[in-house]
Amino acid sequence: MDDLRGLKWDGEALEFIEQTLLPHEEQWVRTDDWTVVVDAIKRLAIRGAPAIGVAGACAVVLAHKSSANDAEFQHAMDAIANARPTAVNLAWAVNRLRDRIANLSSSEEIHQTLQRETAIIAEEDALMCNQMAEHGQQLIPDGARALTHCNTGVLVTYGIGTALGVLRRSHELKRLSHVYACEARPLGQGARLTMWELGKLGIPGTLLSDSAAGSLMQSGKVDLVILGADRVAANGDTANKIGTFQLAVLARRFKIPFYVAAPSSTFDLSLPTGESIPVEERHPDEVRTYRGTQISPKGVNVFNPAFDVTPVELITAFIREDGVFYPPCEFPAGKA
Ligand code: MRU
Repeated sequence: MDDLRGLKWDGEALEFIEQTLLPHEEQWVRTDDWTVVVDAIKRLAIRGAPAIGVAGACAVVLAHKSSANDAEFQHAMDAIANARPTAVNLAWAVNRLRDRIANLSSSEEIHQTLQRETAIIAEEDALMCNQMAEHGQQLIPDGARALTHCNTGVLVTYGIGTALGVLRRSHELKRLSHVYACEARPLGQGARLTMWELGKLGIPGTLLSDSAAGSLMQSGKVDLVILGADRVAANGDTANKIGTFQLAVLARRFKIPFYVAAPSSTFDLSLPTGESIPVEERHPDEVRTYRGTQISPKGVNVFNPAFDVTPVELITAFIREDGVFYPPCEFPAGKA
């Protein structure tokens, strides 16, 4: 299954699987145009915190190549960093590249530095996934039945994924018995993408509507909840796909451990708590419709935050590339 991935970067162009078409069509798009990458990130054709960080870095390389002057390049970098506001990986990757070229003036040197650093960001991302997968095993009991939310596998990273990477490793070790995946309305990342990935990996899975999670936990069929993050504040408050917070509340109610798997690039230690994490609000039509079909009266008022923030006191542990952290704790800074 090493060919199962969502992004490929060869230094000249970015190839990405058009996630909006999954699971029905596996269409790859190849582009050397940074604006196409930004548009793909906005449309969620490329999505998931680490993946948009890697894709953002690739977009910076492409923007540098096509920009006529420094002002144009700076404008492009701002547009890339701001394509989506909640996942910190995007701004983290652009800032890391900005930092590496801050003292360079030759265009050739800047280009080579951006190329080199982007390749490192992608490689590191894949490595961090493997490390999280190994560290996470200490939390997975034999025969585990895990509940997850949104999509956290190959499509959201340059490697095997965050939470789904941990579960994939447990499956390889024959310790995982079942994965329950919430649908993740409104855009169905669980229904469309996690179920697609589980199928490709041969992991037994069951899809449930978001509102069935409490009932599932009440039935005693869930040993742990494990999911990813888009931004974790210094105290551990965690922004992730809308619906995560209510799963954490339910898990606490049923005394089920609740784990967040996220690389250090998703931690924003500049924010003391989750209160100041910017939460993206998306278009109301995402809720009024499902895959293009109108399901509510046209024009109804809609509340459509893409993420929520789970307070750290509901989180049992964090799985990072550098180990397992039980809050309250201090998180080490990642590579900047
Ligand atoms: O809006 P999306 O689909 O980009 O949201 C993605 C998530 O919320 C994932 O759970 C998150 O990025 C963690 S997995 C890396």
